Amino acid sequence: MARIPDAFIDDLLARTDIVEVVGSRVPLKRQGREYSARCPFHDERSPSFTVSPNKQFYHCFGCGAHGTAISFLMNYDRLEFLDAVEELAKRVGLEVPRDTRQRNESGESRELYAAVEAAAHFFQQQLQASAKAKAYLERRGVDAENRARFGIGYAPEGWEGLKSALGTDPRRLALLEKVGMFSRNDSGRVYDKFRDRVMFPIHDRRGRVIAFGGRVLEKDDGPKYLNSPETVLFHKGRELYGLWQVRQAHAKIPRLIVVEGYMDVVALFQYGVNTAVATLGTATTPDHAELLFRNAADVYFCFDGDRAGRGAAWKALESVLPRMRDGRQAFFLFLPEGEDPDTIVRKEGAAGFDARLAQAMPLSEFFYNELSKDVNLAGMEGKARLAERAKPLLAGIPDGAFRDLMLQRLTEMTGVGQRAAAAEPAKPTPSMRGGRGGAPAPKRSLVRTAIALLLQKPALASAIEPPYLFGALRQPGIPLLVELVSLARERPGITTGAVLEHFAEREEIAALQKLALNNEPGSDAELTEVFLGAIRQLNDQTKLQRRDELNEKEHREGLNADEQRERWALIMEIKAIRS
Ligand code: UTP
Ligand code: MN
Repeated sequence: MARIPDAFIDDLLARTDIVEVVGSRVPLKRQGREYSARCPFHDERSPSFTVSPNKQFYHCFGCGAHGTAISFLMNYDRLEFLDAVEELAKRVGLEVPRDTRQRNESGESRELYAAVEAAAHFFQQQLQASAKAKAYLERRGVDAENRARFGIGYAPEGWEGLKSALGTDPRRLALLEKVGMFSRNDSGRVYDKFRDRVMFPIHDRRGRVIAFGGRVLEKDDGPKYLNSPETVLFHKGRELYGLWQVRQAHAKIPRLIVVEGYMDVVALFQYGVNTAVATLGTATTPDHAELLFRNAADVYFCFDGDRAGRGAAWKALESVLPRMRDGRQAFFLFLPEGEDPDTIVRKEGAAGFDARLAQAMPLSEFFYNELSKDVNLAGMEGKARLAERAKPLLAGIPDGAFRDLMLQRLTEMTGVGQRAAAAEPAKPTPSMRGGRGGAPAPKRSLVRTAIALLLQKPALASAIEPPYLFGALRQPGIPLLVELVSLARERPGITTGAVLEHFAEREEIAALQKLALNNEPGSDAELTEVFLGAIRQLNDQTKLQRRDELNEKEHREGLNADEQRERWALIMEIKAIRS
């Protein structure tokens, strides 16, 4: 997907007032410089959700949800990034740069959607005309309401049912082929991909049909399910079957249940469990996990109890861990051998299925159960092994209470981790070897201070001019600081929220988000003073670093005349600083 230029996003956010955007959806109360509300993204009694007009971002101290007006719309209105941008652009009368939109909705892609839609319509008509297909659905107990809700149809026998009905000219034929409706044999002959199958249309998040799954009627007619291939409209790793129907049924989805099959989703719906979605014959991908949590804070993964089911559940867990922000919960439900949600809900009803959900295993339990399966926790070796296995996975969990608790649990089980966990955020800084007289230990807090101030008030960047001496300082955070300063100078007037948007995809975002919450008190002039003070000290440290380098070089191989002069000048400057 084409990217929208950063400058456009900045401009858009600069013209948008997040207070208006949020306020038109959630009642906000003014509190000093900020606005607060009960968080729309998790259940709470007292308000811990704040919107800052100065920084142009929102943050929930309860669940950790945060972001700009764009991410608010993505999460609250459940829009895709591009749609959220469109929505805001409309409000402020901006035109989204054209090349990005073209690919998304104009021209050919509109025709492609229409082609799939026409195919879906054709299959539904064919179902009405096929006694055998209707009998099959009858046998499986799918009622008329749910046939309609899911748009279920039937692809007729023969090789050219769809082709001759809809592929009436070369253009239409090409469109249908492009959306995966045909196969082609070795001699180049084009024929219907789906034949004599019950057809389940797959809808995207806007309710447009983008692909199909087709099930055989008789056992031995090839693979049980055939799915559309990946096409420009359909990426199976990003779609969830049934999500559109679930969204239609709820203003706010209370939880999502992830099952394996089309029929599971349909049967659950019919029996009153209208919150199930299915991955499309694939493992749960990180994109799926994101999509799930964007729609509901609680996600239940429901799998067979056999080995394959456990394996699939573990895959899901791996995709979910990096998205376990506070306020989100994942559970795992394993069904008895030979059952699936379809058979269970028919036997036990919605109440029975709900009762099973209530017993589902929390992610934390499944995580430690699986990791310690073949490990003897009575011995030191076993404990070490468990710790080694758990650590890289735990490292992927976002900062927050959930991560802390998971680490704590590991410590309880193994005794490992207490110190490691505590020491982790403060990575040791590269030591400066050879420094006679010794440069003072680099102070990480200075960099942090400078970054925090810049985030609070990006305009501070205009108080300093490139080249930035401190940029040469070998300390964690320095490259980020330089990047922030440059960004803020390049885009005067940029807000905190827009700065964070720039870093949305970067690993630093969690740390930045936290720092952005700081509110250093003081007037603009005072803040500028503190900022300049921090920069001055960083510059001084850079000089010490350079002097030490030169000292070391002199020791090793001697200095040339220029270097001698540089070192001498530095020594004088440093003396001046000290006095
Ligand atoms: P299952 O084999 O468990 O089938 O496949 P099911 O969902 O219980 O189907 P019914 O009840 O017999 O109709 C689970 C899911 O795996 C995918 C499909 O998405 C299916 O719903 N699958 C299965 C395929 O893609 N191809 C296959 O050949 C089989
Ligand atoms: Mn089944």
